[in-house]
Amino acid sequence: MYVPLARKYRPSRFSEVVGQEVPVRVLKNAVKEGRVANAYLFAGPRGVGKTTLARVFTKALNCLNPEEGEPCGECENCKEIERGSFPDLVEIDAASNRGIDDIRALKENVSYAPLKGEYKVYIIDEAHMLTREAFNALLKTLEEPPPRTVFILCTTEHERIPPTIVSRCQRLLFRRVQEDLIVDHLKNVCSKEGIEAEERALKTVARVSEGCLRDALSLLDQVSVFSEGKVTSQAVEEVLGIVGEEKIFEFMEKLFRGDVEGCIAFLRDIYFKGYNLMRFWESLESELSNLALYKALKDPAKVIEVKEHYKRFQDIPLERILYLETLVNRGKVDARTRDSLKAFELAIVKSSLVGEVLSLGEVVKRIQNATQQVNDREGEKEVKKNLTADTTKLF
Ligand SMILES: Nc1ncnc2c1ncn2[C@@H]1O[C@H](COP(=O)(O)OP(=O)(O)OP(=O)(O)O)[C@@H](O)[C@H]1O
Ligand SMILES: [Mg+2]
Ligand SMILES: [Zn+2]
Repeated sequence: MYVPLARKYRPSRFSEVVGQEVPVRVLKNAVKEGRVANAYLFAGPRGVGKTTLARVFTKALNCLNPEEGEPCGECENCKEIERGSFPDLVEIDAASNRGIDDIRALKENVSYAPLKGEYKVYIIDEAHMLTREAFNALLKTLEEPPPRTVFILCTTEHERIPPTIVSRCQRLLFRRVQEDLIVDHLKNVCSKEGIEAEERALKTVARVSEGCLRDALSLLDQVSVFSEGKVTSQAVEEVLGIVGEEKIFEFMEKLFRGDVEGCIAFLRDIYFKGYNLMRFWESLESELSNLALYKALKDPAKVIEVKEHYKRFQDIPLERILYLETLVNRGKVDARTRDSLKAFELAIVKSSLVGEVLSLGEVVKRIQNATQQVNDREGEKEVKKNLTADTTKLF
Protein backbone atom coordinates (compact mmCIF):
# COMPACT_ATOMS: atom_id res chain seq x y z
CA MET A 1 0.00 0.00 0.00
CA TYR A 2 1.24 3.47 -0.84
CA VAL A 3 1.83 5.65 2.22
CA PRO A 4 2.05 9.41 1.53
CA LEU A 5 5.47 10.87 2.31
CA ALA A 6 4.03 13.28 4.90
CA ARG A 7 2.75 10.33 6.92
CA LYS A 8 5.68 8.00 6.28
CA TYR A 9 8.15 10.60 7.51
CA ARG A 10 6.31 11.77 10.60
CA PRO A 11 9.08 12.08 13.24
CA SER A 12 8.89 9.54 16.02
CA ARG A 13 11.53 11.12 18.27
CA PHE A 14 12.32 14.67 19.39
CA SER A 15 15.63 14.60 17.50
CA GLU A 16 13.86 14.03 14.18
CA VAL A 17 11.67 17.11 14.45
CA VAL A 18 12.76 19.86 12.07
CA GLY A 19 12.97 23.34 13.64
CA GLN A 20 10.62 24.09 16.58
CA GLU A 21 13.62 24.23 18.94
CA VAL A 22 11.76 25.88 21.81
CA PRO A 23 8.80 23.49 22.08
CA VAL A 24 11.15 20.52 21.63
CA ARG A 25 13.44 21.69 24.41
CA VAL A 26 10.61 22.52 26.81
CA LEU A 27 8.90 19.15 26.34
CA LYS A 28 12.07 17.10 26.47
CA ASN A 29 13.18 18.81 29.67
CA ALA A 30 9.74 18.34 31.18
CA VAL A 31 10.13 14.60 30.69
CA LYS A 32 13.75 14.52 31.88
CA GLU A 33 13.06 16.49 35.02
CA GLY A 34 9.65 14.99 35.68
CA ARG A 35 8.08 18.44 35.69
CA VAL A 36 5.08 17.91 33.51
CA ALA A 37 2.32 20.52 33.31
CA ASN A 38 -1.34 19.53 33.39
CA ALA A 39 -2.21 21.36 30.23
CA TYR A 40 -0.33 22.58 27.18
CA LEU A 41 -1.46 24.79 24.34
CA PHE A 42 0.33 24.12 21.05
CA ALA A 43 -0.32 27.10 18.83
CA GLY A 44 0.97 27.74 15.32
CA PRO A 45 0.36 27.45 11.58
CA ARG A 46 -0.86 24.21 9.99
CA GLY A 47 1.51 21.39 9.17
CA VAL A 48 4.46 22.47 11.29
CA GLY A 49 4.57 19.63 13.81
CA LYS A 50 1.96 20.22 16.53
CA THR A 51 0.23 16.82 16.37
CA THR A 52 3.60 15.20 15.70
CA LEU A 53 5.18 16.65 18.84
CA ALA A 54 2.08 15.88 20.90
CA ARG A 55 2.52 12.21 19.99
CA VAL A 56 6.29 12.18 20.56
CA PHE A 57 5.68 13.78 23.95
CA THR A 58 3.07 11.12 24.79
CA LYS A 59 5.61 8.46 23.89
CA ALA A 60 8.33 10.08 25.95
CA LEU A 61 5.98 10.25 28.96
CA ASN A 62 5.02 6.60 28.71
CA CYS A 63 8.16 4.98 27.30
CA LEU A 64 9.47 2.09 29.37
CA ASN A 65 13.14 2.82 28.54
CA PRO A 66 13.47 6.53 27.85
CA GLU A 67 16.92 7.97 27.27
CA GLU A 68 17.59 11.60 28.16
CA GLY A 69 13.94 12.43 27.62
CA GLU A 70 13.76 10.66 24.25
CA PRO A 71 11.36 7.74 23.77
CA CYS A 72 13.03 4.44 22.80
CA GLY A 73 10.60 3.64 19.98
CA GLU A 74 11.04 -0.07 20.71
CA CYS A 75 9.04 -0.82 23.85
CA GLU A 76 5.44 -1.95 23.86
CA ASN A 77 4.08 1.47 24.84
CA CYS A 78 6.06 3.32 22.16
CA LYS A 79 4.88 0.85 19.54
CA GLU A 80 1.24 1.05 20.58
CA ILE A 81 1.32 4.84 20.50
CA GLU A 82 2.88 4.69 17.05
CA ARG A 83 0.14 2.32 15.88
CA GLY A 84 -2.61 4.38 17.50
CA SER A 85 -3.76 1.60 19.81
CA PHE A 86 -2.46 2.83 23.17
CA PRO A 87 -5.36 2.92 25.65
CA ASP A 88 -4.11 5.98 27.54
CA LEU A 89 -3.87 8.26 24.54
CA VAL A 90 -7.14 9.89 23.57
CA GLU A 91 -7.14 12.04 20.44
CA ILE A 92 -10.15 14.24 19.92
CA ASP A 93 -10.89 16.24 16.82
CA ALA A 94 -12.66 19.29 18.14
CA ALA A 95 -13.83 20.21 14.65
CA SER A 96 -16.32 17.35 14.72
CA ASN A 97 -16.74 16.91 18.52
CA ARG A 98 -17.19 20.44 19.61
CA GLY A 99 -20.23 20.43 21.86
CA ILE A 100 -20.89 20.27 25.55
CA ASP A 101 -21.87 16.57 25.40
CA ASP A 102 -18.54 15.67 23.91
CA ILE A 103 -16.73 17.46 26.71
CA ARG A 104 -18.98 15.78 29.30
CA ALA A 105 -18.06 12.39 27.88
CA LEU A 106 -14.42 13.39 27.99
CA LYS A 107 -14.69 14.46 31.63
CA GLU A 108 -16.25 11.16 32.49
CA ASN A 109 -13.33 9.40 30.84
CA VAL A 110 -10.83 11.63 32.63
CA SER A 111 -11.94 10.35 36.01
CA TYR A 112 -10.36 6.95 35.33
CA ALA A 113 -6.72 6.45 36.11
CA PRO A 114 -4.30 5.48 33.31
CA LEU A 115 -4.74 1.84 32.33
CA LYS A 116 -1.34 0.96 31.14
CA GLY A 117 1.00 3.89 31.02
CA GLU A 118 2.41 6.40 33.43
CA TYR A 119 0.35 9.26 32.00
CA LYS A 120 -3.01 9.58 30.38
CA VAL A 121 -2.81 12.07 27.53
CA TYR A 122 -5.65 13.90 25.79
CA ILE A 123 -4.80 15.58 22.53
CA ILE A 124 -7.52 18.01 21.49
CA ASP A 125 -6.93 18.99 17.88
CA GLU A 126 -8.38 22.17 16.37
CA ALA A 127 -9.23 23.24 19.91
CA HIS A 128 -10.48 26.65 18.76
CA MET A 129 -13.54 24.90 17.30
CA LEU A 130 -14.99 24.05 20.73
CA THR A 131 -18.19 25.87 21.64
CA ARG A 132 -18.29 28.35 24.50
CA GLU A 133 -20.17 25.89 26.70
CA ALA A 134 -17.65 23.21 25.91
CA PHE A 135 -14.79 25.51 26.89
CA ASN A 136 -16.57 26.35 30.13
CA ALA A 137 -17.09 22.71 30.92
CA LEU A 138 -13.41 22.10 30.28
CA LEU A 139 -12.19 24.90 32.53
CA LYS A 140 -12.47 23.10 35.81
CA THR A 141 -10.88 19.93 34.50
CA LEU A 142 -7.93 21.92 33.22
CA GLU A 143 -7.66 23.67 36.57
CA GLU A 144 -7.59 20.55 38.68
CA PRO A 145 -7.14 17.47 36.57
CA PRO A 146 -6.65 14.07 38.20
CA PRO A 147 -2.99 13.18 38.77
CA ARG A 148 -0.97 11.83 35.83
CA THR A 149 -3.27 13.38 33.27
CA VAL A 150 -2.03 15.72 30.57
CA PHE A 151 -4.09 17.82 28.17
CA ILE A 152 -2.64 19.07 24.92
CA LEU A 153 -4.75 21.59 23.06
CA CYS A 154 -3.60 22.16 19.48
CA THR A 155 -4.73 25.11 17.43
CA THR A 156 -3.97 27.07 14.31
CA GLU A 157 -6.04 29.98 15.64
CA HIS A 158 -4.57 30.96 18.93
CA GLU A 159 -6.67 34.13 19.24
CA ARG A 160 -9.89 32.14 19.19
CA ILE A 161 -9.05 30.30 22.43
CA PRO A 162 -10.65 32.08 25.41
CA PRO A 163 -8.12 33.76 27.74
CA THR A 164 -9.48 31.78 30.68
CA ILE A 165 -8.32 28.60 28.95
CA VAL A 166 -5.04 30.04 27.72
CA SER A 167 -4.04 31.14 31.21
CA ARG A 168 -4.47 27.61 32.51
CA CYS A 169 -2.16 26.13 29.92
CA GLN A 170 1.55 26.22 29.33
CA ARG A 171 1.76 27.87 25.95
CA LEU A 172 4.14 26.65 23.25
CA LEU A 173 4.39 28.65 20.06
CA PHE A 174 5.17 26.75 16.86
CA ARG A 175 6.82 28.57 13.99
CA ARG A 176 6.82 28.22 10.24
CA VAL A 177 9.77 26.05 9.31
CA GLN A 178 12.67 27.93 7.68
CA GLU A 179 13.09 27.42 3.96
CA ASP A 180 16.62 26.02 4.14
CA LEU A 181 15.58 23.52 6.81
CA ILE A 182 12.72 22.39 4.57
CA VAL A 183 15.13 21.94 1.66
CA ASP A 184 17.46 19.84 3.81
CA HIS A 185 14.56 17.72 5.01
CA LEU A 186 13.30 17.19 1.45
CA LYS A 187 16.81 16.18 0.32
CA ASN A 188 16.94 13.67 3.12
CA VAL A 189 13.57 12.18 2.21
CA CYS A 190 14.55 12.07 -1.48
CA SER A 191 17.74 10.16 -0.78
CA LYS A 192 15.87 7.63 1.37
CA GLU A 193 13.21 7.22 -1.30
CA GLY A 194 15.65 7.04 -4.20
CA ILE A 195 14.15 10.16 -5.73
CA GLU A 196 16.50 12.19 -7.92
CA ALA A 197 15.90 15.88 -7.32
CA GLU A 198 17.34 19.15 -8.55
CA GLU A 199 18.31 21.52 -5.75
CA ARG A 200 16.49 24.38 -7.45
CA ALA A 201 13.31 22.31 -7.72
CA LEU A 202 13.38 21.58 -3.99
CA LYS A 203 13.94 25.25 -3.27
CA THR A 204 10.82 26.12 -5.23
CA VAL A 205 8.83 23.49 -3.37
CA ALA A 206 10.07 24.89 -0.05
CA ARG A 207 9.27 28.45 -1.06
CA VAL A 208 5.69 27.83 -2.12
CA SER A 209 5.02 25.74 0.99
CA GLU A 210 5.49 28.88 3.09
CA GLY A 211 6.96 27.10 6.08
CA CYS A 212 4.45 24.24 6.14
CA LEU A 213 6.36 20.96 6.07
CA ARG A 214 3.28 18.89 5.39
CA ASP A 215 2.59 20.88 2.22
CA ALA A 216 6.22 20.56 1.17
CA LEU A 217 6.11 16.77 1.48
CA SER A 218 2.75 16.49 -0.25
CA LEU A 219 4.06 18.56 -3.13
CA LEU A 220 7.16 16.43 -3.38
CA ASP A 221 4.87 13.41 -3.52
CA GLN A 222 2.81 14.93 -6.30
CA VAL A 223 5.77 16.02 -8.39
CA SER A 224 7.68 12.76 -8.08
CA VAL A 225 4.62 10.79 -9.20
CA PHE A 226 4.06 13.21 -12.07
CA SER A 227 7.63 13.04 -13.30
CA GLU A 228 8.32 9.38 -12.53
CA GLY A 229 10.82 9.86 -9.77
CA LYS A 230 12.89 12.71 -11.22
CA VAL A 231 12.09 15.98 -9.54
CA THR A 232 13.12 18.77 -11.91
CA SER A 233 12.38 22.48 -11.78
CA GLN A 234 10.29 22.15 -14.88
CA ALA A 235 8.17 19.38 -13.36
CA VAL A 236 7.62 21.43 -10.22
CA GLU A 237 6.61 24.45 -12.26
CA GLU A 238 4.21 22.42 -14.36
CA VAL A 239 2.56 20.73 -11.41
CA LEU A 240 2.21 24.00 -9.51
CA GLY A 241 1.28 26.05 -12.55
CA ILE A 242 4.04 28.50 -11.79
CA VAL A 243 6.13 30.48 -14.21
CA GLY A 244 9.83 29.62 -14.12
CA GLU A 245 12.55 32.02 -13.05
CA GLU A 246 14.01 32.41 -16.54
CA LYS A 247 10.65 33.63 -17.87
CA ILE A 248 10.19 36.03 -14.99
CA PHE A 249 13.50 37.70 -15.84
CA GLU A 250 12.56 37.75 -19.50
CA PHE A 251 9.40 39.63 -18.53
CA MET A 252 11.41 42.06 -16.39
CA GLU A 253 13.60 42.89 -19.38
CA LYS A 254 10.52 43.79 -21.39
CA LEU A 255 9.20 45.86 -18.52
CA PHE A 256 12.42 47.84 -18.16
CA ARG A 257 12.54 48.34 -21.91
CA GLY A 258 9.03 49.84 -21.76
CA ASP A 259 7.74 47.17 -24.13
CA VAL A 260 4.05 47.44 -23.18
CA GLU A 261 2.77 45.24 -26.02
CA GLY A 262 5.33 42.56 -25.25
CA CYS A 263 4.46 42.56 -21.55
CA ILE A 264 0.74 42.31 -22.15
CA ALA A 265 1.13 39.55 -24.73
CA PHE A 266 3.26 37.66 -22.22
CA LEU A 267 0.67 38.06 -19.45
CA ARG A 268 -2.17 36.88 -21.67
CA ASP A 269 -0.18 33.94 -22.84
CA ILE A 270 0.50 32.59 -19.35
CA TYR A 271 -3.06 33.44 -18.31
CA PHE A 272 -4.63 31.43 -21.10
CA LYS A 273 -2.21 28.58 -20.60
CA GLY A 274 -3.66 28.28 -17.12
CA TYR A 275 -0.69 29.40 -15.05
CA ASN A 276 -1.28 30.99 -11.70
CA LEU A 277 -1.20 34.68 -12.60
CA MET A 278 -1.14 35.99 -9.04
CA ARG A 279 1.79 33.78 -8.13
CA PHE A 280 3.67 35.04 -11.19
CA TRP A 281 2.96 38.64 -10.22
CA GLU A 282 4.12 38.03 -6.67
CA SER A 283 7.37 36.48 -7.89
CA LEU A 284 7.84 39.49 -10.14
CA GLU A 285 7.35 41.81 -7.19
CA SER A 286 9.75 39.89 -5.05
CA GLU A 287 12.41 39.81 -7.80
CA LEU A 288 12.05 43.56 -8.28
CA SER A 289 12.49 44.27 -4.60
CA ASN A 290 15.46 41.90 -4.43
CA LEU A 291 16.96 43.63 -7.42
CA ALA A 292 16.54 46.98 -5.65
CA LEU A 293 18.36 45.60 -2.61
CA TYR A 294 21.04 44.17 -4.86
CA LYS A 295 21.62 47.60 -6.38
CA ALA A 296 21.39 49.53 -3.12
CA LEU A 297 23.47 47.42 -0.75
CA LYS A 298 27.24 47.13 -0.53
CA ASP A 299 27.10 43.47 0.36
CA PRO A 300 23.69 42.23 -0.85
CA ALA A 301 24.58 38.55 -0.43
CA LYS A 302 24.21 39.01 3.30
CA VAL A 303 20.53 39.82 2.91
CA ILE A 304 19.29 38.18 -0.27
CA GLU A 305 20.18 35.35 -2.56
CA VAL A 306 22.11 37.08 -5.34
CA LYS A 307 21.08 35.56 -8.64
CA GLU A 308 23.21 35.47 -11.78
CA HIS A 309 20.32 37.12 -13.65
CA TYR A 310 20.68 40.36 -11.67
CA LYS A 311 23.81 41.23 -13.66
CA ARG A 312 21.61 41.71 -16.74
CA PHE A 313 20.11 44.73 -15.03
CA GLN A 314 23.37 46.39 -14.08
CA ASP A 315 22.53 49.56 -16.01
CA ILE A 316 18.98 50.10 -14.82
CA PRO A 317 18.89 52.98 -12.30
CA LEU A 318 17.70 52.14 -8.80
CA GLU A 319 14.96 54.78 -9.06
CA ARG A 320 13.42 53.06 -12.03
CA ILE A 321 13.44 49.68 -10.28
CA LEU A 322 11.80 51.18 -7.20
CA TYR A 323 9.20 52.94 -9.31
CA LEU A 324 8.25 49.75 -11.14
CA GLU A 325 8.22 47.78 -7.91
CA THR A 326 5.69 50.23 -6.48
CA LEU A 327 3.51 49.93 -9.57
CA VAL A 328 3.63 46.15 -9.44
CA ASN A 329 2.74 46.24 -5.76
CA ARG A 330 -0.23 48.53 -6.46
CA GLY A 331 -1.31 46.17 -9.23
CA LYS A 332 -1.35 43.35 -6.70
CA VAL A 333 -3.53 45.32 -4.30
CA ASP A 334 -5.76 46.30 -7.19
CA ALA A 335 -6.17 42.67 -8.22
CA ARG A 336 -8.03 41.99 -4.98
CA THR A 337 -10.94 44.14 -6.03
CA ARG A 338 -11.11 43.38 -9.75
CA ASP A 339 -10.15 40.89 -12.38
CA SER A 340 -6.45 40.21 -11.89
CA LEU A 341 -5.50 40.14 -15.57
CA LYS A 342 -7.07 43.61 -15.97
CA ALA A 343 -5.33 44.93 -12.88
CA PHE A 344 -1.93 43.72 -14.08
CA GLU A 345 -2.39 44.98 -17.61
CA LEU A 346 -3.30 48.41 -16.34
CA ALA A 347 -0.25 48.44 -14.10
CA ILE A 348 1.87 47.78 -17.17
CA VAL A 349 0.18 50.56 -19.08
CA LYS A 350 0.86 52.93 -16.20
CA SER A 351 4.51 51.97 -16.21
CA SER A 352 4.76 53.32 -19.76
CA LEU A 353 3.58 56.79 -18.76
CA VAL A 354 6.89 57.67 -17.23
CA GLY A 355 9.40 56.60 -19.78
CA GLU A 356 12.43 57.06 -17.63
CA VAL A 357 12.75 57.88 -13.99
CA LEU A 358 16.02 59.59 -13.22
CA SER A 359 17.86 60.15 -10.00
CA LEU A 360 18.25 63.74 -8.81
CA GLY A 361 21.98 63.47 -9.41
CA GLU A 362 21.38 62.35 -12.98
CA VAL A 363 18.91 65.22 -13.56
CA VAL A 364 21.47 67.77 -12.30
CA LYS A 365 24.17 66.20 -14.46
CA ARG A 366 21.96 66.34 -17.52
CA ILE A 367 21.03 70.00 -16.89
CA GLN A 368 24.69 70.82 -16.49
CA ASN A 369 25.49 69.08 -19.76
CA ALA A 370 22.68 70.87 -21.57
CA THR A 371 23.75 74.25 -20.21
CA GLN A 372 27.29 73.49 -21.21
CA GLN A 373 26.14 72.67 -24.73
CA VAL A 374 24.12 75.89 -24.94
CA ASN A 375 27.09 77.87 -23.68
CA ASP A 376 29.34 76.14 -26.16
CA ARG A 377 26.90 76.97 -28.93
CA GLU A 378 26.64 80.59 -27.73
CA GLY A 379 30.41 80.65 -27.74
CA GLU A 380 30.48 79.27 -31.24
CA LYS A 381 27.99 81.91 -32.40
CA GLU A 382 30.15 84.59 -30.85
CA VAL A 383 33.19 83.27 -32.68
CA LYS A 384 31.23 83.04 -35.94
CA LYS A 385 29.89 86.58 -35.50
CA ASN A 386 33.35 87.87 -34.89
CA LEU A 387 34.63 85.86 -37.82
CA THR A 388 31.90 87.25 -40.08
CA ALA A 389 32.62 90.72 -38.83
CA ASP A 390 36.28 90.19 -39.45
CA THR A 391 35.59 88.76 -42.90
CA THR A 392 33.26 91.67 -43.80
CA LYS A 393 35.94 94.04 -42.62
CA LEU A 394 38.28 92.40 -45.10
CA PHE A 395 36.11 93.54 -47.98
N1 LIG B 1 8.62 20.18 12.45
C1 LIG B 1 8.48 19.11 11.67
N2 LIG B 1 9.51 18.23 11.51
C2 LIG B 1 9.38 17.16 10.71
N3 LIG B 1 8.27 16.86 10.01
C3 LIG B 1 7.21 17.69 10.13
C4 LIG B 1 7.27 18.85 10.96
N4 LIG B 1 6.11 19.48 10.85
C5 LIG B 1 5.34 18.79 10.02
N5 LIG B 1 6.00 17.69 9.57
C6 LIG B 1 5.49 16.73 8.58
O1 LIG B 1 4.15 17.11 8.28
C7 LIG B 1 3.22 16.12 8.71
C8 LIG B 1 2.09 16.81 9.44
O2 LIG B 1 2.55 17.41 10.64
P1 LIG B 1 1.61 17.62 11.90
O3 LIG B 1 0.43 16.70 11.80
O4 LIG B 1 2.43 17.50 13.11
O5 LIG B 1 1.15 19.10 11.66
P2 LIG B 1 0.23 20.02 12.60
O6 LIG B 1 1.08 21.16 13.05
O7 LIG B 1 -0.45 19.20 13.62
O8 LIG B 1 -0.79 20.56 11.51
P3 LIG B 1 -2.38 20.87 11.66
O9 LIG B 1 -2.47 22.21 12.33
O10 LIG B 1 -2.82 20.97 10.23
O11 LIG B 1 -2.99 19.77 12.41
C9 LIG B 1 4.02 15.17 9.58
O12 LIG B 1 3.55 13.86 9.40
C10 LIG B 1 5.43 15.31 9.09
O13 LIG B 1 5.66 14.47 8.01
MG1 LIG C 1 -2.45 18.54 13.82
ZN1 LIG D 1 9.74 3.21 24.51
